[in-house]
Amino acid sequence: MDDHKLALPVGTTLDRFIMRKQEDFAYATGELSQLLRDIALAAKIVNREVNRSGLIDVTGAYGNRNVQGEDQQKLDIIANIRFIRALRNGGEVCTIVSEEDEDMIQTGNNQGKYVVAIDPLDGSSNIDVNVSIGTIFSIYRRTSPTGSAGTVADCLQPGTQQVAAGYVIYGSSTMLVYTTGNGVNGFTYEPSLGEFFLSHPAIQMPLSGTIYSINEGSANSFSPGVAAFVQHCKDHHFSARYIGSLVADFHRNLLKGGIYLYPATAKSPHGKLRLLYECNPLAFIVEQAGGRSSNGKCRTLEIEPKETHERSPLFIGSQELVAQAELCLQG
Ligand code: AHG
Ligand code: MN
Ligand code: MN
Repeated sequence: MDDHKLALPVGTTLDRFIMRKQEDFAYATGELSQLLRDIALAAKIVNREVNRSGLIDVTGAYGNRNVQGEDQQKLDIIANIRFIRALRNGGEVCTIVSEEDEDMIQTGNNQGKYVVAIDPLDGSSNIDVNVSIGTIFSIYRRTSPTGSAGTVADCLQPGTQQVAAGYVIYGSSTMLVYTTGNGVNGFTYEPSLGEFFLSHPAIQMPLSGTIYSINEGSANSFSPGVAAFVQHCKDHHFSARYIGSLVADFHRNLLKGGIYLYPATAKSPHGKLRLLYECNPLAFIVEQAGGRSSNGKCRTLEIEPKETHERSPLFIGSQELVAQAELCLQG
């Protein structure tokens, strides 16, 4: 296919971009395109809720704990409801795995060809303090036949099988960044028009960088390898940048170059982040942008998931920095 056919100008609306990309695939039926549009619609609605969260009574803890035993925030629940509703109404998705629901969600769309894993609201500790938060999603084609509910096996595919993945960052501006395996594109939301516009075409991550992002409050329980890599960053006068919202830390490093680390710690012996809806989608994006992602032992995308909510250590970012971290981890 001609490269010029793939290049769409900055300012193209997300809807048009999705439509034009679909035309590049001869047998595309439009279902994935519809699914991406459903996600974008839910993102707009959640963006509205996030922006006015200081005005209405939606900040603060809900008084519930989610499956991981963490406090659920009201906005977590609102975002979860919005995304599930959009995916259910859209009709393309048979099954959803959400951070906020212990069990898989059957949408009732048994003809739907896709399964979605989602972290509806990432960075929940930052909601109440007006700091960037996000949404992360991952899309797979089901392996079970259509006509019945999706299965656990449909949801436990390795990250290499993702057909699309993305995130929304509710930051100083709201952006949607996604890949369908043909590069990474970023769209900025224009609230007065209610549209996402292509603002960051064909994102390429710098090969290296001088930013490291890790919660050093847990330094006492870092493995010798992690400690050695953090020392390496200090020896080379890197900047420490840690927002505490994975999406926001990842997004900054994607554009500027850097590495994000969430290793095993005493508090989270298997790492804190969830493989299906935090690590894998960002690993797909980072690789598509020329970066690298690992659990310290192997490529994130090649991990065979055993459980829908399983956790994994995460070392993700610029190729050379992640390779360096892997060297330290292997002693
Ligand atoms: P979530 O809000 O979806 O539970 O995710 C929180 C995650 C991630 O966004 C962030 O990078 C990490 O937790 C921060 O953890 P620490 O506070 O342990 O550093
Ligand atoms: Mn999260
Ligand atoms: Mn979350």
